[in-house]
Amino acid sequence: MISSDGQAVWQLESFMKMDESTNVAVAQTRAKCRMWPDDAANFTTLKIGQLRHNFHEHPLLQLAELERLANDLMPLHQCRFVRPGITQASSFAHADQHPDGLSIEQVFSRIEEPGSWIALYNVESIPRYQALLTEILDAMRPVVEREQGKIFMETGFIFVSAPPSVTPFHIDRENNFWLQLHGRKTMNVWDNTDRTTIPADVVEDYIVAHQAKKVRFKEELRSRSHEFDVGPGDGVYFPSTSPHMTKSDRTWVRPGDGVSISFGVNFYTDHTRRTARVHQINRLLRKGLHLAPTSPGQSTAVDAAKAPMGKMIGATRQLGKTLLSPIVLKKPATPPPPGSY
Ligand SMILES: [Fe+2]
Repeated sequence: MISSDGQAVWQLESFMKMDESTNVAVAQTRAKCRMWPDDAANFTTLKIGQLRHNFHEHPLLQLAELERLANDLMPLHQCRFVRPGITQASSFAHADQHPDGLSIEQVFSRIEEPGSWIALYNVESIPRYQALLTEILDAMRPVVEREQGKIFMETGFIFVSAPPSVTPFHIDRENNFWLQLHGRKTMNVWDNTDRTTIPADVVEDYIVAHQAKKVRFKEELRSRSHEFDVGPGDGVYFPSTSPHMTKSDRTWVRPGDGVSISFGVNFYTDHTRRTARVHQINRLLRKGLHLAPTSPGQSTAVDAAKAPMGKMIGATRQLGKTLLSPIVLKKPATPPPPGSY
């Protein structure tokens, strides 16, 4: 739980200085941005929770700056595009080129056209955004680390779209501080312990084998979700493997306010890694021995016993793939993503 002294707060200070070599007076602009749980007394990083923030006022998170960021990320293949006509039930497939071959400049010049969609992945690849991510998470680090151990691999994903648009139903390995920066969206999030929405074997396939084919939205699942109508200053925290999807609607659009921007601040922890190791051994028990193993989180003692074995199994699987890849696989085995084991 978060400390009782109130909101979890971090401050980000940005200083813009004029050229000092000219010995001209330094112009300094200072922006203070904060994020805090809506219900500080009951906030825990192990469950879904509502957030408040004012990062939508941050200079680096304005549309013109995001276009500059997209230009920096495009050569790194970190700008992602979806095909037109996807729904929340579609697979979350995206490519590093616009489906109609538009340039970044063209995408942003037409960004208010209904259905526009671009995601900026791994924004920490650009130093100024790495600094922003680090400062954001530094202030929350004591809360997270008290509950989940050490944070590692901090990444940022920014979604820019024009209603009507969707982000399809999916799960991620990371924990996520998800902030709405501009425009409005409906965010649906499901508890990561909800085995009706995502059966245990499907979570294991995703974590261990990187398969998400069976992660699909069905309308009857909607009532099981936490639904948040969010605007600038709102956010949602959700832990690793919480299913989620978003939708934006034309009825919310006001003149000059036709773009929706969201920022996912993602990170792994000792806890997410330990859980992934439990998934490793559970998948083996389920598929190899046809058992119904205890899900991670149900028993601390069982998880503690399984995790070291899961680590060994994961490492052995990866070693096997690496050794076999020149013989069996067409392309070399790639390292597993963090949070696999
Ligand atoms: Fe996601």
